[in-house]
Amino acid sequence: MEQISLIPTVSSVNKTDTFVTHSSFSHDNVCTQTERVALEKRYAQLLIENDEFNRQLVSYQGNKGALVHSWIRYREGFSAQLVENLINKFNINETILEPFAGSATTLLVAKFLGLNATGIELLPVCHLAWEAKSKIWEYDIGLLKQIYQQLYDSQPIDLHSKFPHITITESAFPPKNERDVMFYSHWFKQLNLREPEKTLCQLVLTSILEEVSYTRKDGQYLRWDYRSAKVQNRNARKIAQGKKPTHKIDFGSIATVKNVLLRAFNRVLTDITTLQNLPLHHKSQTLLKGNALLILPTLESNHFGGVITSPPYCNRYDYTRTYALEIAYLNTASDIRDLRQNLLSCTVENRPKLSLLENHYRSIGQYKRYQTILSVVQNNRVFKEINQALQTRWRRGDINNKGVLTMVEQYFTELTFVFAELFRTCQSKAYVVFVNDNVRYGGEVIPVDLLSTSLAEMLGFEAIAVYVLPKKKGNSSQQMKKFGREPLRKSITLWQKP
Ligand SMILES: C[S@@+](CC[C@H](N)C(=O)[O-])C[C@H]1O[C@@H](n2cnc3c(N)ncnc32)[C@H](O)[C@@H]1O
Repeated sequence: MEQISLIPTVSSVNKTDTFVTHSSFSHDNVCTQTERVALEKRYAQLLIENDEFNRQLVSYQGNKGALVHSWIRYREGFSAQLVENLINKFNINETILEPFAGSATTLLVAKFLGLNATGIELLPVCHLAWEAKSKIWEYDIGLLKQIYQQLYDSQPIDLHSKFPHITITESAFPPKNERDVMFYSHWFKQLNLREPEKTLCQLVLTSILEEVSYTRKDGQYLRWDYRSAKVQNRNARKIAQGKKPTHKIDFGSIATVKNVLLRAFNRVLTDITTLQNLPLHHKSQTLLKGNALLILPTLESNHFGGVITSPPYCNRYDYTRTYALEIAYLNTASDIRDLRQNLLSCTVENRPKLSLLENHYRSIGQYKRYQTILSVVQNNRVFKEINQALQTRWRRGDINNKGVLTMVEQYFTELTFVFAELFRTCQSKAYVVFVNDNVRYGGEVIPVDLLSTSLAEMLGFEAIAVYVLPKKKGNSSQQMKKFGREPLRKSITLWQKP
């Protein structure tokens, strides 16, 4: 496979260290920042800010209106265009690996371009999305049109069937919408469809749950409308205790299940009709279900021709809470807490997974490898400096949840295992692309992009470039109030296996 030159030409590069680098890592110089400053200096030449990658391209916004990719609103995803651009730019034409597949953007782009690909993902809603999206050429359009017509003619009634709520989803729907969701859930089942159409109908119904509910996925949280029993009861308790009720959030009129379902079904049908005219490439894309930390060590060495991924960010975002409605409906996660604990440590509730990893590497006869990888992260000076700084901030009361300390330490520890397995499973000359955000806790900036790059280098990768998105991110309002504004980089890091 021929590789294109990766060193960007000077004309396309806008390298101005002053605006891509952080000005200070420790607010008020409370903690030592020597290692982070040295890291920044060491990689300054790799930081590239230009118009090639922008926020829209790197976020789900870029998928708005995109055929198939928008069947489920997975806001944590990156755009299909970004994946396609990266594949072209780095001439990736062998099996691509996406260890945190999410809504399967990378797998789907590979399918359309005729490339082999392997993905790994934990969340059942993402598995369903891939199963439905990957079957485009298998659907019987005539049958789908009949289903649409029957849906149009249907009249939902109360089947006295209960939505399989878990504690955190109770009262998420207006009662009529909950009855209708269950009606259509049974309605689709009694149609006795073939497997592909059955999967598609299940995805369409799952994809509308948010819109017909009192909840909205918003940044890091699931927001609840004030009309839900959950908010009403909470406010009643607050008022009884002499406290102020929570700020009133009103999502306005909530659409009926039938209307939203018809719209979603029509969209899917139109996309399939368009796409079935395109040629089907006979290449294989597979989504492996489970924890990437456990699956990666079992994959073949020197196999993949490139990696395009974005892991969960180190930002306390809990996928299992945001997607609780969908997870509960699919009822496949016997215990949502298990799912949460298997996430790469990105929430303050994650407990360390080191003993899980140790046992796993032992069970596959790779205990020595486990020790070697662990020593890489534990010997990284920037990692040590950050952990010490966060300890100091915790003792000073600058961090309000001790879980942040465990999260940050475990996040980089687990990522090091991921990087090590990517190095082993990639072919020589393969490129590895990671999209990630820098973060800040207790006034301490954590340069996720450069720390990751230095860990990757310690594992054998060559650091090629760090593309910095033009508009940097602000901080949480809490951080701004206490520690002022320190714009944070959102970056695309690029490494290569020599
Ligand atoms: C930023 S999202 C990836 C989005 C994806 N690039 C897309 O376009 O949809 C990170 C994904 O990693 C998944 N994830 C988190 N921890 C995981 C783990 N240990 N194993 C496998 N997947 C994991 C999350 O469920 C989430 O879907």
